[in-house]
Amino acid sequence: MKIAIVGTGYVGLVSAACFAELGHTVCGVDIDAAKIRKLKEGISPIYEPGLEELIVSGLKSGRLTFTTELTEALPGCSIVFCAVATPPGEGYKADLRAVFTVAKTVAERTESDIVFVTKSTVPVGTGKKCEELITETLKARGATFRIPVVSNPEFLREGMAVPDTLMPDRIVVGVNHDEGAKELMEELYRPITRVGKPIVFMTRESAEIVKYASNSFLATKISFINMLTELTEKTEANIRDVAMGIGLDNRIGPRFLHAGIGYGGSCFPKDVKALLATGKELGVPMDIIEATDRINFRQRQRFFDRILKSLPARATVGIWGLSFKPKTDDMREAPSLDLLPALVRNGHTVRAYDPAAMETARPLLPKEIVYVDDLFAAADKADAVVLLTEWDIFRGVDLNELKRRMKGADLFDGRNVYEPKEVVRASLIYHGIGIC
Ligand SMILES: NC(=O)c1ccc[n+]([C@@H]2O[C@H](COP(=O)([O-])OP(=O)(O)OC[C@H]3O[C@@H](n4cnc5c(N)ncnc54)[C@H](O)[C@@H]3O)[C@@H](O)[C@H]2O)c1
Repeated sequence: MKIAIVGTGYVGLVSAACFAELGHTVCGVDIDAAKIRKLKEGISPIYEPGLEELIVSGLKSGRLTFTTELTEALPGCSIVFCAVATPPGEGYKADLRAVFTVAKTVAERTESDIVFVTKSTVPVGTGKKCEELITETLKARGATFRIPVVSNPEFLREGMAVPDTLMPDRIVVGVNHDEGAKELMEELYRPITRVGKPIVFMTRESAEIVKYASNSFLATKISFINMLTELTEKTEANIRDVAMGIGLDNRIGPRFLHAGIGYGGSCFPKDVKALLATGKELGVPMDIIEATDRINFRQRQRFFDRILKSLPARATVGIWGLSFKPKTDDMREAPSLDLLPALVRNGHTVRAYDPAAMETARPLLPKEIVYVDDLFAAADKADAVVLLTEWDIFRGVDLNELKRRMKGADLFDGRNVYEPKEVVRASLIYHGIGIC
């Protein structure tokens, strides 16, 4: 099948490369000309394991192309995906301007019937608004093409985006009374459903809600365990044991019960807040989600206050990890964006190392930060080292070597990855979260 994907960011680019890998013919469209130039040369503009290889093989096979011109991409396509960003707008409502621009442009430029699919995360009711906009635009140009609007939310995790796209837990498709569009979506995803992955059809509105509900539920699990860290810190309890004790219950499960400095990234914080905004708009209380958001903010602040209070004047602080999570260079809502400026403001010297995100981080962080190209170099003569992102390379670090390189002895473990006993054995002082 021939398709176009508008927006070649983390979602659109991975989808484009994976659909091409699965045998479809895909054209990726983006307004960012520099990005498209790189892509045409087979260079991935983002760090995502396995992605560049797929781009190169897609280009070679001729099934994957890129352009800045939507008009070039549309001819012959059965489906056009909208995968542009929906960042927080006024009052944390999702900013849908890019989605509406794409919907309108498709209606202005298409010369045949085409299914318009929103892969971007959009609040309930957006599909209906796109449909109205498309109908209006077609009417204005006197065209009678059929452009049904389908919702197909994306659930990939950055760092795991390629396997998540090729082998998703489920594919959710929201279609309202359009058998033709439903059949096309079935055909598109057949290479994945054929190997046993489920595709579930529902109304467009249900599919739109599923996306926000999934992310908010996962965020709530994280905030739930983080809420308990305040309790375990004041008692003889250990949050790891508590999480294990809870998670072994099959009804609950162990995942997303890992205490730490809270969630960040391009999705959880914005989607939680956008669901709150939708609730407010429709007069529906969202008490649990409100608490999830509040706890996440407090958790990060509590840990950062502990660090700032413990440091001597004009300290040197080694930072391990800048991206919001491992295996990505994405800096959106990363904890480092709060902590590092606070350290600099307080007169401290910051030496930072991240395996992939230093280039994306640099323009977002104070110019005083010293970037180094190895984890021990970040710890050199440091009064304290703070782990912010649990990249594998930090997990297995030689703690004795770390102690030798440092001036002080404080190790702040923002992700609870180290064994406190081992840290103490290396003559370091362990500061975890929820561990007494
Ligand atoms: N990043 C994730 O892990 C993830 C996971 C699931 C869902 N989502 C959702 O998917 C959507 C996209 O997220 P992302 O992280 O890929 O965003 P992104 O910022 O990485 O990419 C968006 C791309 O769209 C392009 N763009 C913007 N306006 C355009 C236009 N009018 N025409 C063509 N291109 C345009 C931008 O240049 C950019 O390359 C968002 O709604 C997000 O919430 C993201």
